[in-house]
Amino acid sequence: MRLADRLGNLGTETAFAVSLRATEWQAQGNRVYPFHLGDINLPTPANVVAAMDRAIADGRTGYCPAAGIPQLREVLAEDVGRRRGLSLGPENVIVQPGGKPVITKFIQSIMDPGDEVLYPNPGYPIYESQIEYFGGVARPYRYLPTGTGFAIDVEQMRAMVGPRTRAIVYNDLQNPNGAESSDEERRAIADLASEHDLWVLSDEAYFEMRYSGSSTSIASLPGMQERTVILYTFSKKFAMTGWRLGAAVAPTAVAEVISKLNTNDESCTTHFVQHGGVEAITGDPSGPAAILETLRRRRDETVDALAGVPGIEAYRPEAGFYVFPDVTAAMQAKGIPDVGEFAEQALRATGVSFCTRRHFGRPQPDETRDYIRLAFSGISEDDIREGLGRFAEWVGAS
Ligand SMILES: Cc1ncc(COP(=O)(O)O)c(C=O)c1O
Repeated sequence: MRLADRLGNLGTETAFAVSLRATEWQAQGNRVYPFHLGDINLPTPANVVAAMDRAIADGRTGYCPAAGIPQLREVLAEDVGRRRGLSLGPENVIVQPGGKPVITKFIQSIMDPGDEVLYPNPGYPIYESQIEYFGGVARPYRYLPTGTGFAIDVEQMRAMVGPRTRAIVYNDLQNPNGAESSDEERRAIADLASEHDLWVLSDEAYFEMRYSGSSTSIASLPGMQERTVILYTFSKKFAMTGWRLGAAVAPTAVAEVISKLNTNDESCTTHFVQHGGVEAITGDPSGPAAILETLRRRRDETVDALAGVPGIEAYRPEAGFYVFPDVTAAMQAKGIPDVGEFAEQALRATGVSFCTRRHFGRPQPDETRDYIRLAFSGISEDDIREGLGRFAEWVGAS
């Protein structure tokens, strides 16, 4: 029996392989410090859990509308709109089982086979996978180090736009490198999209996961709301990764298509989970504030622990869960030429487990530096200190 040819184009999140390796190493009796997964080891706020429990007790266990329950669409339209300065109605909000489905539904809605979509690389690997799976041409754009973080190479991006380009995938507050666009950079990308009549998928998974300042959505720039689909998720802010709840926030024409895709794919997002979502948005804000505060302390612990390590260059991200240090010099000092091997040796010597740049899209041919990604969302402050202490010692030892 043969399987479909297009499966040859389907990628995956290879970061899960790092998880498997870490679990295997732990099962052999070793201590593991998990910096590899972008999951959160903190509980969902109790008021949200209680609201979902109530919904089940009240019998909200049948199907509901494909686009989501009206209450959730309404409160999301208000909340997402207010935080971004957009005027949105419930018709712009299509509830999803997580943020991730917005990627695949966006691609299916706006791209035909042979069309090109620009996407960030390094970046969340599902963009590349879904563009190629649906027969598109995935065109990676790069980030350049700035000394304090990373910036999109907008000139390269501009040069890549051609007659078949349909869309730009844009992940401000980036996974894995933590980059945030300057106003000028965001404006330049918006101008490019407007000039060439391109769609934008604005992946805003970390929009509210920031430790200082405020986020700006590209959708709020002039002329952008009508061409932008926002990926919204409950996963991070409310520590709800396993609940699978998110939304596509889109111009009405695309929203209708995405709703039709919902009908085809899952009928509806889990009904009672959506009532938890209403409480998350409208209820006591102290739960998500406490989650963010815990993450801030972990971020500082991680960055401070790396600061003195020779051959490692890390900076303090203002948003998200990830530190993305340049480890090129440390690898040279240890005589390890391959970043995958660097990760494996670090695991075996210290128990510190992390992803490398290679888990975030196919590396581009002109890359000369090596990076790793440390996620601090699933590890306690004490373990961060202890694990990175061991890591620093190992890197420093010749
Ligand atoms: C940039 C980015 N987009 C989307 C997602 C998907 O989030 P969700 O768990 O809500 O599907 C993630 C999850 O890690 C992410 O990092």
